[in-house]
Amino acid sequence: MGMKERIAEIHEAMLRELAGTDEMKSLEALRVKVLGKKGDLTALLRSMGQLSPEERPAAGALINEERERITALLEERAQTLKEMARKEALKRETIDVTEPVTMPAIGSEHPVTLVMNEMIDCFTGMGFEVVEGPEVELDHYNFELMNIPKNHPARDAQDTFYVDDNIVLRTHTSPMQARTMLTRKPPIRVICPGRVFRADEVDATHSPVFHQMEGLVIDKDVTMADLRGTLNAFAEYVYGKGITTRFRPSFFPFTEPSTEVDLTCAACHGKGCRVCKGTGWIEVLGGGMVNPKVLEMCGIDSSVYSGFAFGIGLERIAMQRYGIPDMRLMYEGDVRFLGQFR
Ligand code: DAH
Repeated sequence: MGMKERIAEIHEAMLRELAGTDEMKSLEALRVKVLGKKGDLTALLRSMGQLSPEERPAAGALINEERERITALLEERAQTLKEMARKEALKRETIDVTEPVTMPAIGSEHPVTLVMNEMIDCFTGMGFEVVEGPEVELDHYNFELMNIPKNHPARDAQDTFYVDDNIVLRTHTSPMQARTMLTRKPPIRVICPGRVFRADEVDATHSPVFHQMEGLVIDKDVTMADLRGTLNAFAEYVYGKGITTRFRPSFFPFTEPSTEVDLTCAACHGKGCRVCKGTGWIEVLGGGMVNPKVLEMCGIDSSVYSGFAFGIGLERIAMQRYGIPDMRLMYEGDVRFLGQFR
């Protein structure tokens, strides 16, 4: 067999195998098989020794040409394989963004939390600072410093949860008034949102655990008009334009004078409806001028300073706000109810 035929044979064989290579490993094996030390073409090169000196240059040239052709073919195949691998990888990694997925269940804020946050926004916007205090409170702060005397019915075990003779679950957020006055110097402007406890039976409007937000302002020349202005701003912020307050005389041991505060009924804008039982007003909170006795007990000179305080029940606000007819709904944790306040 002549040199040309032998080369053609190697070439044909190589082309057949080349088409079958599907990865770099088999391509490399093919390269070794043809061009490697013991490869077919290398063997052919070695066999040139048998040729006559005149034949050698032409034969050598033919073999080298073939070597170059094969190298080019291998290189080309390598590129093709690389490109195929890349396409394969891209296909594997493709994300179908249109494919439907099950979304993780996302919770929602509790109506009391929503109302509380809104009120915090409102009062911090007016310069109040948020303070928090203990839910397990000393009788001293909960009653004594709030000027609630020993024989007062609120102290009765029927209304108050006692831990022992001196410790109670706080029945209101008002003890934070005392704690604040005893640790800060005027001017004081704080709100205290939090949980409070009363030994009440559960019904549509009562719960042994509920929430209040206390407000306290102490400064020189603070008057009832400041309380009115602050609460009017609060009423508009939370319920919208046109909602205002009505003050009715009342009594609390820790304020003097004291007031019960009504807001324009947001359902009928004061015209009178079922929600406000035809009065046009909704009772929402208590407040008043901090009793000078309380100021003195808490180390504030009542001849220099005066202040106002108020306490708001958050459940009641949430119920009016969202038209929740029964307080128990807010504590049962039913997601069908809770999911409505997103
Ligand atoms: N502490 C009262 C309660 O629990 C609410 C209250 C009334 C708070 C008048 C005040 C206030 O600060 O001035 O019902």
